[in-house]
Amino acid sequence: MIEIIDIHKSFGRQKVLSGLSISIDKGSLVAVLGSSGSGKSVLLKHVAGLLRPDRGKVLLDGQDIHGLRGKTLASLRDRMGFLFQGGALFDSMTVFENVAFPLKEKTKLYREEIRDRVLKTLEAVGLSGSEDKYPSQLSGGMIKRAAMARALVRDPEIMMFDEPTTGLDPAIRLAMLRLIDTSHKRFGFTGIIVTHEIPSALAIVDHVVFLKSGSVYARTASRDFLSSSDPVIKEFLGRDEGPEICPQK
Ligand SMILES: Nc1ncnc2c1ncn2[C@@H]1O[C@H](COP(=O)(O)OP(=O)(O)O)[C@@H](O)[C@H]1O
Ligand SMILES: [Mg+2]
Repeated sequence: MIEIIDIHKSFGRQKVLSGLSISIDKGSLVAVLGSSGSGKSVLLKHVAGLLRPDRGKVLLDGQDIHGLRGKTLASLRDRMGFLFQGGALFDSMTVFENVAFPLKEKTKLYREEIRDRVLKTLEAVGLSGSEDKYPSQLSGGMIKRAAMARALVRDPEIMMFDEPTTGLDPAIRLAMLRLIDTSHKRFGFTGIIVTHEIPSALAIVDHVVFLKSGSVYARTASRDFLSSSDPVIKEFLGRDEGPEICPQK
């Protein structure tokens, strides 16, 4: 279980998070929605232990992750997988080598075990047969799949997706969401999807957390979000903030 408790974060004079609290049950998949610049990526970086809150804490199974140092922090990060926006592959490595990389770096598995797990994970994301290709030979959708395989290969307990569908064609966008959905069911991770893209992620998540002004404005079941009568949510839903118009940083 992930508990984000009253976190505050400013950069210089800019207050980005102000008293944000969210708790996420083990095994659930949650979407964190909010306009561009509302602090979604900053929030994920706190959960990942990459940023330290000015105030408040993040507990992972009751353990304050910002109280950890060195090896304990590293081993906690090993339980997490990330799919960051534009999460690039290593261009000089094949798909197989890219996906094998975290296992070679972080585990003492034998070659055969690594091979086995890489091939299984590639199969899970629909990339069987592409293991010897280089990133330059892949379509945008395939690159996302390969990045997803690399994040999943160590079977993380927590997966964080930062704008997983931003900048993709509508058809690939749907395929990507389906992939997150099937992986969630198959691997059983606790997942956080952050996005400013309106309803696309709603179909696959359990809950929606809507951020505004650095804290949680609303938390709803995903099916209730689209029909919300709240004026602020309606305004968010009505706004066309597609990636073509408003590129993400
Ligand atoms: N490392 C940083 N230093 C200074 N400002 C930052 C940093 N990271 C994010 N910000 C600012 O915090 C705000 C929220 O950013 P972000 O979390 O990336 O928004 P989004 O919801 O679009 O992901 C933005 O105004 C951004 O410029
Ligand atoms: Mg962002």
